[in-house]
Amino acid sequence: MFYSEEIIEEVRSRNPIVDVIGSYVHLTKKGGGYFGLCPFHNEKTGSFSVSPSRRTYQCFGCGKGGNVITFIMDYENCTFPEALQFLAERGGVELPKQEFTAAQRQEADRRSRLLAMYREAAFFYVRMLRSPQGKIGYDYLKKRGLSDETIRNFGLGYALQSPNALYRYLKEKEYTDAELKESGFFTYRERGVTDKFWNRVMFPIMDTNNRVIGFGGRVMGDGEPKYLNSPETMIFDKSRNLYGLNAAKRSRERFLLVCEGYMDVISMHQAGFTNAVASLGTAFTVQHGMILKRYTEEVVLCYDHDNAGKKAALRAIPILKEAGLRIKVLDLAPYKDPDEFIKALGADAFRARVESAVNAFLFEIACLRETYDFTDPDDKTRFFTETASKLAAFMDEIERNAYTESVAAAYGIDYGVLKARVSEIGNRQGLMQAPEETRKPAASGFPGQKKETGLQKAERMILTDLSGSPEHFQAIRRVLSPSDFSTPLLQDVAACLYDQLERNALNAALLIDRFIDNEQYGEVTSLLSSVFMEDAEEEERKQALREAVLRVKADSLERKAAAAQDPGTLMELMKQKQDLRNLPVF
Ligand code: CTP
Ligand code: MN
Repeated sequence: MFYSEEIIEEVRSRNPIVDVIGSYVHLTKKGGGYFGLCPFHNEKTGSFSVSPSRRTYQCFGCGKGGNVITFIMDYENCTFPEALQFLAERGGVELPKQEFTAAQRQEADRRSRLLAMYREAAFFYVRMLRSPQGKIGYDYLKKRGLSDETIRNFGLGYALQSPNALYRYLKEKEYTDAELKESGFFTYRERGVTDKFWNRVMFPIMDTNNRVIGFGGRVMGDGEPKYLNSPETMIFDKSRNLYGLNAAKRSRERFLLVCEGYMDVISMHQAGFTNAVASLGTAFTVQHGMILKRYTEEVVLCYDHDNAGKKAALRAIPILKEAGLRIKVLDLAPYKDPDEFIKALGADAFRARVESAVNAFLFEIACLRETYDFTDPDDKTRFFTETASKLAAFMDEIERNAYTESVAAAYGIDYGVLKARVSEIGNRQGLMQAPEETRKPAASGFPGQKKETGLQKAERMILTDLSGSPEHFQAIRRVLSPSDFSTPLLQDVAACLYDQLERNALNAALLIDRFIDNEQYGEVTSLLSSVFMEDAEEEERKQALREAVLRVKADSLERKAAAAQDPGTLMELMKQKQDLRNLPVF
């Protein structure tokens, strides 16, 4: 850590965690906490909670948690000092000048080394595209209609037809073998190391801060695979990055165009649609939806005009809806993708298609329609029943009626009849739906989450409680000392907490900083971020806590007894254990 605790604390206090996280994730207040969809894993139920009093966040699903600084590190893909800098600017705090040189700081940080390596690689590929051996790549891009300006703006490059040009280049830049391996650029075999990208035009993938985090490489002409992508690394998470967003986020348009491929994004930008992004072959994720929501209110889907594109759109629509976006779907017929459309008909024709894009609900109904045969009365009835049940899902009555009206008009059915059917289905569903409180969140089933033992649960409960309710400290410390906890990690956490509480300076967010480099960081954050029996009455909580404290103490005494060397100590320990029964905690 390069900054003093005071300055870090100052930055944190100027950046209330609910404000900061709330600008990334839609949070709803419930009790003393805030809840939302976790931005770090795909989920449909809100397992993500933010505690303003502890100034921490925690996902019960994937286990990610921490304080406002670690949130920025994870979300913006950056290092501790960068996150601090970002928040300092946001909160108007002036950071003292660093005593370390840029080089020293980099040395200390794997992530920034990897980012630097990716940037080097991007420059290398750009230089190769301009070299005589790269002419073949340059000619390919020109043949596809890209201007020099576009090639430059998107940082397009070329990977030589050579077994290990990039490897040799980066080796000279003095990256270590471990770093080179971690980059994912190379294949390691017994016979030696080779570049993964050969003879391909290279598309650097950038994050929203314009940092290169990955590459896609296209074969020139036919060949398999058509696109080769660099693997996920600690700086590249495919489910959380959209190609072109670094440029599109500056566009002033009130909506974003979402398409499938690199070339689509580039063609659209070149034609003046600088609000285009792509999800790059990977399925559209909940995180993609949330990221888009940060930049816009409306998305126009421009997926390929083929079955795969239609399926991808149908998959993305509910996700985008969940994120709170308005969605339209653009029809590219008879062309396959935006790139081909623009090349054939030009920018004005494309703009007209954008303007006439249909609302996503009507698109879904049109897709549904194709699966029914209207010459068969049974089929036709089933189509209307299914449509009515989709209409019934609209909670807002005005909206529901408006859609019912459009559908009735589009498919030639009487509005009154359809509306009656929709209400009927709506009423039936209303009766069947359990009230929200009684619905249990789905089991998350994350690997690596072991079942806790009773002792672990008790220890966890105590530390969690202490980190949020300092008023319980005096009672607990009369019975338990940090050494009573069963693992070195919990003893450490307890010792730090006790220290803060003794000084009357409880600060869970600060404690989290201390454990950032600890392997068991996740465990610590979840201890310090969870809410403990939040909805229970104080008496109930105290009762649970009392049992936990006695349980932990009994276990600790037993462990000490088992290790005792002389009979006197043993007897003393056993007596203490017996006395526990009558010990008042609260
Ligand atoms: N893709 C991929 N790997 C492949 C094929 C496709 O990662 N083997 C991703 C790429 O991001 C690509 C997108 O899926 O841009 C769409 O694929 P496709 O429609 O096949 O390619 P186009 O974008 O039309 O590419 P081009 O115009 O260069 O043929
Ligand atoms: Mn294409």
